[in-house]
Amino acid sequence: MSRATDIVILAAGRGTRMRSAKPKVLHPLGGRPMVEHVLAAANALPDARSIVVSGHAAEQLEQALAGRAVAFARQAEQRGTADAVAAALPQLREQSVVLVLYGDVPLISAATLARLLATVNTEQLGLLTVELADPTGYGRIIRDCDGAVAAIVEQKDASPAELAVSEVNTGVLAICSEQLAALLPQIDCDNAQREYYLTDLIGLAVAAGIAIAVTQPDRPSEVEGVNDREQLARLERVYQSRQATALMAAGATLADPARYDQRGSVTVGEDVFIDANVLFEGDNRLGNNVTIGANCHLIDATIGDDVVIKSHTIIEQSQIGRGAVVGPFARLRPGTVLASDTKIGNFVETKKAVLGRGSKINHLSYVGDAVLGEQVNVGAGTITCNYDGVNKHQTVIGDGAFIGSNSALVAPVTVGAGATVGAGSTISRSVEPDNLALTRAKQTVIKGWKKPTKG
Ligand code: UD1
Ligand code: CA
Repeated sequence: MSRATDIVILAAGRGTRMRSAKPKVLHPLGGRPMVEHVLAAANALPDARSIVVSGHAAEQLEQALAGRAVAFARQAEQRGTADAVAAALPQLREQSVVLVLYGDVPLISAATLARLLATVNTEQLGLLTVELADPTGYGRIIRDCDGAVAAIVEQKDASPAELAVSEVNTGVLAICSEQLAALLPQIDCDNAQREYYLTDLIGLAVAAGIAIAVTQPDRPSEVEGVNDREQLARLERVYQSRQATALMAAGATLADPARYDQRGSVTVGEDVFIDANVLFEGDNRLGNNVTIGANCHLIDATIGDDVVIKSHTIIEQSQIGRGAVVGPFARLRPGTVLASDTKIGNFVETKKAVLGRGSKINHLSYVGDAVLGEQVNVGAGTITCNYDGVNKHQTVIGDGAFIGSNSALVAPVTVGAGATVGAGSTISRSVEPDNLALTRAKQTVIKGWKKPTKG
């Protein structure tokens, strides 16, 4: 049946147990708000449109999702899941299939949803259920003597026999829009919570001659909801474990998949090795034979083939060329571009720094707003003084130049190709190619000097 899909994502609840000023569905999982994961699964379905039902802290939620391909419906008062879906009714398209999802059930997959949608037609409503060892708290699936689904009974309204049922309602269902519009107004709040239960739709549909087609998710974690921070942390681990598995399938070795975190995307070439406790954020691209040491943090990093990143290194919005070696304890800030075979050693900070092929900054330096040619050697303790208190200025160092240890390069300044700066110099005027510049004071030696004695 080729109908468009209108996806209604319920997110109006207060989320009291999170104890948070932020709407529950905006709490991040894998670095993205939970509701965005739901939207991503929804948007992966063909001819689908999403409507988020907001209520509690609606402005905050709508603002956070501004610019996304999503419409909003407001539920003025949280009077139950059926009332929440009713808020979206005016925005539904004619003769669509309506799929109900939850902003706090973040791991639902597009594949499971596609299977569920395939069961829906004018004779059938699609319901996603799951078998749980401990069904406490969930609505139970009640079947008739032929095994057909007859109703859903909420925990608080269930008899002891019904409580023993282990097949539960995930809350996710799909139904033709005209049937939803006809049945929804028939739902009342005659129950233990005085709420309008969307689950009552099942009994009403059966009474109207609509059969219930049950689908189960590929994985039970797909239908787990988040009510508190402990459940959020649990799903975070499930999510991270999936990403680690995907990365290994793509050809990377992870020293410990349980200590791998990815808040964004990572692509890898062949034979990448990632040691324990590495965190990726944003969009990262790693080439072939890349090694990332323990405890590194990469944000929007592009890493070429054969690069070694040693432990405790932070790389943000930077590009690292083939064969470079970085770290341990290096910090590459945005705009760092390292050509092939470069070296950045321990306690080196770079920012908007471009290094030509084979250049080295091995120890204890700050190089910012700088362009270095090829085969430049920057000694330990070198500082580019790029900031005069008001503006930033550039340092340019030519090919093959040698900067002695503990030098201060006061920008704007140029050190020509092949030039040498003597150790301990403060260079505030440009140095011509191949010259030696040094500003350190001449050493004084007092021969036979006697230390003072205590009086
Ligand atoms: C619901 C189902 C239950 C199912 C369970 C699965 C109903 C009546 N019960 O119970 O059968 O086993 O989910 O997790 O549907 N919401 C609104 N507006 C409201 C009420 C709720 O937007 O007025 C949203 C909440 O933000 C939440 C979701 O709907 O995201 C579910 O509501 P909640 O009250 O948590 O339902 P459960 O009691 O978990
Ligand atoms: Ca409830």
